[in-house]
Amino acid sequence: MAASSTSEGLFHEVAASYETPHAKITVVGVGQVGMACAYSILLQNVASEICLVDVVEDKLKGEMMDLQHGLAFTRHCVIKADTDYAITADSRICVVTAGARQREGESRLSLVERNVEIFRGIIPKLVKYSPNTVLLIVSNPVDIMTYVSWKLSGLPQERVFGSGTNLDSARFRFIMSQRLNIAPTSCHGWIIGEHGDSSVAVWSGVNVAGVTLTDVNPDIGSDKDKEKWTEVHRQVIDSAYEVIKLKGYTSWAIGMSVATIVQSIMRNSRNVYALSVNVKGLHDIDGDVYLSLPSVLGEKGITHIVKQLLTPAEKEKLEKSVKQLSDLQKSLKL
Ligand SMILES: NC(=O)c1ccc[n+]([C@@H]2O[C@H](COP(=O)([O-])OP(=O)(O)OC[C@H]3O[C@@H](n4cnc5c(N)ncnc54)[C@H](O)[C@@H]3O)[C@@H](O)[C@H]2O)c1
Repeated sequence: MAASSTSEGLFHEVAASYETPHAKITVVGVGQVGMACAYSILLQNVASEICLVDVVEDKLKGEMMDLQHGLAFTRHCVIKADTDYAITADSRICVVTAGARQREGESRLSLVERNVEIFRGIIPKLVKYSPNTVLLIVSNPVDIMTYVSWKLSGLPQERVFGSGTNLDSARFRFIMSQRLNIAPTSCHGWIIGEHGDSSVAVWSGVNVAGVTLTDVNPDIGSDKDKEKWTEVHRQVIDSAYEVIKLKGYTSWAIGMSVATIVQSIMRNSRNVYALSVNVKGLHDIDGDVYLSLPSVLGEKGITHIVKQLLTPAEKEKLEKSVKQLSDLQKSLKL
């Protein structure tokens, strides 16, 4: 007897297909950053499903289709997209990149009011559909937006954090690698504090193979330094502005940074990254301020924050970063 459909002709059904348990990741905002994140996450092979959400329907559908057409070249992953947050249900991680983009020459802090309003329409919906999710915030100003997300979500602080200065630290390691002709992965250095103009380079810890650069150049990071290493930090701060000036936005490096963080959570790998976290109680900070410190990542989010031994000069700079961020936080009506 002729089969009623190609499927019936091709297959003998043994059991009805069922939905598999999900390693599901949602990306909100399918702009340059969101898509760089989604693409990099896809290539990390840690997601069984990637959900895209945005308010612009055509772009959302186009981005979804474009990624789907590449699925013959990746490990199995389902790509979905919708403007309705119902599709995000039971996400392990929600990456939030939605928002207004930094304009040429615009400081990240001036973006804040525009993005707070946008987040009011996003964060509660994500938590409604995925109450156990980890929220990874990328939108700028990322430290403030992470604080805002923590407040709007009602989630415990270990499950709400920002991509923070993980990108700044990567930029630092790259520029350091150019100076020393050593691979970035073998150059160790941490940028902490605000993801932005008041970030702090922890010169006391910068090292190659455990040899701290302060031991070979005691003036490093100071005005007395003949090699002017402070320019490396200056370049880190200027990087985003420069890339935005040149190509209009930044995308690939933040995408790779986010995908690495996502992979660490999905694999419970307990890597340490410079992430924007609630730093209350560390380095004599007494308020609920979000800024970046080296943080240990597990499957449910942040498990520990590393207590770096900062020099008095580094601590003083961190305090300035804290003041700048907490002043802005206090001015927000949440
Ligand atoms: N933390 C970092 O290191 C870092 C690095 C680069 C960029 N960023 C930030 O990431 C954000 C996105 O940058 P981009 O270049 O992708 O911008 P973009 O303009 O290309 O994309 C933003 C996307 O957000 C969407 N969007 C706007 N309102 C929304 C809403 N209410 N719900 C869902 N989606 C909404 C837009 O439709 C758009 O697709 C910016 O805030 C930018 O400053 C952060």
